[in-house]
Amino acid sequence: MNGEPLLEIKDLHVGYKTHMGISHVLNGVHLTVHKGERVGVIGESGSGKTTTMKSILRILPSNAIIKKGEIVYNGKDVLKMSNEELLTIRRKKISMIFQDPTSALNPLFKIGQIMLDIIKYSYNLEEKDAKEMALKALKEAALPDPERVFDSYPFQLSGGMRQRVCIALALIGERELIIADEPTTNLDVTIKAQVLNLLTDLVKKKNVGWIFVSQALGAVRENVDRVYVMYAGNIIEWGPSEKVFSNPLHPYTQKLLECVPKLTGKEFAKGIRGRIPNYFHPPSGCRFHPRCDYIMDNCKKNIPEPVEVEHEHFVSCYLYHRR
Ligand SMILES: Nc1ncnc2c1ncn2[C@@H]1O[C@H](COP(=O)(O)OP(=O)(O)O)[C@@H](O)[C@H]1O
Ligand SMILES: [Mg+2]
Repeated sequence: MNGEPLLEIKDLHVGYKTHMGISHVLNGVHLTVHKGERVGVIGESGSGKTTTMKSILRILPSNAIIKKGEIVYNGKDVLKMSNEELLTIRRKKISMIFQDPTSALNPLFKIGQIMLDIIKYSYNLEEKDAKEMALKALKEAALPDPERVFDSYPFQLSGGMRQRVCIALALIGERELIIADEPTTNLDVTIKAQVLNLLTDLVKKKNVGWIFVSQALGAVRENVDRVYVMYAGNIIEWGPSEKVFSNPLHPYTQKLLECVPKLTGKEFAKGIRGRIPNYFHPPSGCRFHPRCDYIMDNCKKNIPEPVEVEHEHFVSCYLYHRR
């Protein structure tokens, strides 16, 4: 992928302080998004996807510890920004759509009030212009009767409509990067596809950078340029989406893709033996080694350097070091 990097996460290490001690979750995560590029992030639950996304906006819970790393946005390290710079990024440049549209909207306020507050604050607009902007955004998010939605409380809307409101909010103004963290996971099966189509269409139309975190592998495959595979706090494989999905290299990626019911409908997932490791005492070396069918001595000792197996398609695995 050519073009200028918009976001570059480098060697990010994040842990959490808990009553059981410190968990070592992110273990050197890296990820790049170029301007206008659509990037997917996949991996089992608990692999650290949300922790990575929240790090970008510095909205991690208070017990999180950023131990090491850089998050360079438009040439500047987010981890070193002043509060004022951070606010500008959050209000104008990057927006995030969460898994749960309910908790993202304050239940005590009408949708219109929530939107006006955000718009007025971010863009210094008069009430009338802000309202116009809000209604336009609701319309763009394919909400029928925007005036009525504007005048509703969150509880008066269905889950799908609430997520459309969040999408509308996320796309207001001239955003450069939209982060969607499992945006349809909490929605009813019947409306998942509609909401996803809306989001992907809007992202394409606006030509913004996009990070799409999802367990819906088919949707990721179809809607991103490049994909990163995350396992237990490490990026273990990345590359152009078509290459990663058609030619998965890492034993973990191979298993993960096997877990998707085959399109023929008959064959079902074999599943991956074992579970994500305990982050209080993570495995040494490659964190996947306890679950891997191809384990070698080296795997227990060191984290493998990435290898570019085909053009722009990388894997961190010792199986590809022997060649
Ligand atoms: N506030 C927290 N305190 C302690 N541990 C947490 C906290 N948030 C997340 N974790 C742990 O971090 C790990 C990664 O979680 P997360 O980033 O949510 O993964 P994913 O989004 O891939 O499911 C999990 O083991 C989770 O339990
Ligand atoms: Mg998550």
